[in-house]
Amino acid sequence: MRKAERLQKLPPYLFTALRNKINDAKKQGIDVISLAIGDPVDGTPAPIIDALCEAAKLPENHRYPTDEEWGMTPLREAIARWYKRRHNVKLEPSSEIVALIGSKEGCHHFALGMINPGDLVLVTDPGYPGYKPSIWFAGAEPYPVPMLEKNGYLPDLGSIPSDAAQKATGFFLNYPNNPTGAVATKGFLAELVEFAKTHDIAICYDNAYSEMVFGAERLSFLSAPGAKEVGVELNSLSKPYNMTGWRIGMASGNADIVGAIGQVKSNTDSGIFNAVQYAGIEALDNGDEAIDRMMEVYGARRERVLKTLHELGWTSEPPKGTFYLWIPVPSGHSSASFCDYMLETCAVVVAPGAAYGEYGEGYVRLSLTVPDDRLDEALARMREKLPRMSVGS
Ligand SMILES: Cc1ncc(COP(=O)(O)O)c(C=O)c1O
Repeated sequence: MRKAERLQKLPPYLFTALRNKINDAKKQGIDVISLAIGDPVDGTPAPIIDALCEAAKLPENHRYPTDEEWGMTPLREAIARWYKRRHNVKLEPSSEIVALIGSKEGCHHFALGMINPGDLVLVTDPGYPGYKPSIWFAGAEPYPVPMLEKNGYLPDLGSIPSDAAQKATGFFLNYPNNPTGAVATKGFLAELVEFAKTHDIAICYDNAYSEMVFGAERLSFLSAPGAKEVGVELNSLSKPYNMTGWRIGMASGNADIVGAIGQVKSNTDSGIFNAVQYAGIEALDNGDEAIDRMMEVYGARRERVLKTLHELGWTSEPPKGTFYLWIPVPSGHSSASFCDYMLETCAVVVAPGAAYGEYGEGYVRLSLTVPDDRLDEALARMREKLPRMSVGS
């Protein structure tokens, strides 16, 4: 069967290749521990599950979602309350918020709603692997903007060639950043708004990890003066409330961009199951303590991993956000060869930095979303099997 040409641009999905490697090892009877995937294992808080169960019993919630595909009004109002409470950002629920089945959907609909075939779209490199396929599906070309350790993994906007900046119509960024864990600063957000205004670029600021910081300020792009004139922020209930499987998130900010995303969504699906929307309201209104609890869990795991890495000879200080650790590989290794080495020596899977873009080469990503006992077992294997090294910048 002849498939559409747009599919030919897609590289194999990073985690498919990793999953295959894990499965091969498991078939050989090896007890593999994966630190490669960022998917919380700790379970959604009980009150959120209860809200879903109650709402799921009501026949009116078995029908097409209430209000419209953009999300029911009470959910959009809860999103506005959440942004005001947690980020001091004021949003108009009827025009500046669209509910989504996760921020991943927002990336895709932003591209289809805002980008024309032949456009150039800036994307940070390394970057979340979801952005490029969305850009290709819109018929546009991604333009990688390097994120370097020496700049705190923030893009140097001044070094983007002026012809690329002039031609670009969109920019995908994400802080706290997957994969590097870097966080943005208020100064950088202000610079980004100016850059977008100067070059007439629509910003898609993916803030899926907005609540996950260690000793840094939680920052919304929308809190930067002028941000709503140039962009939207994607956010998600996936990571802060352990709800990756529930599929609920949002895009907020510039009303024209929100409208474009909503228009694509209205013509693609019929919205989020009402019961999930009610559970989302419970999470957004009453879930602050659950976030704090999870951040303590991740903080403790992070300390244990860092202790082991330092004992083994890693010297670099970790960035301050997300539940990932982004670490350089020992000299003589590529990111892929170090992943293979970790699998062969420790039966521990880590994600190769090169899978996140050219500038991810030389690094691997470890995720803290693994049960404590499995993490401790992985760390014990690393301490036992890896030689002492000197790794870091
Ligand atoms: C940077 C980033 N954006 C978006 C997503 C997708 O999240 P969601 O579950 O909200 O679709 C992820 C998931 O890992 C991510 O890391």
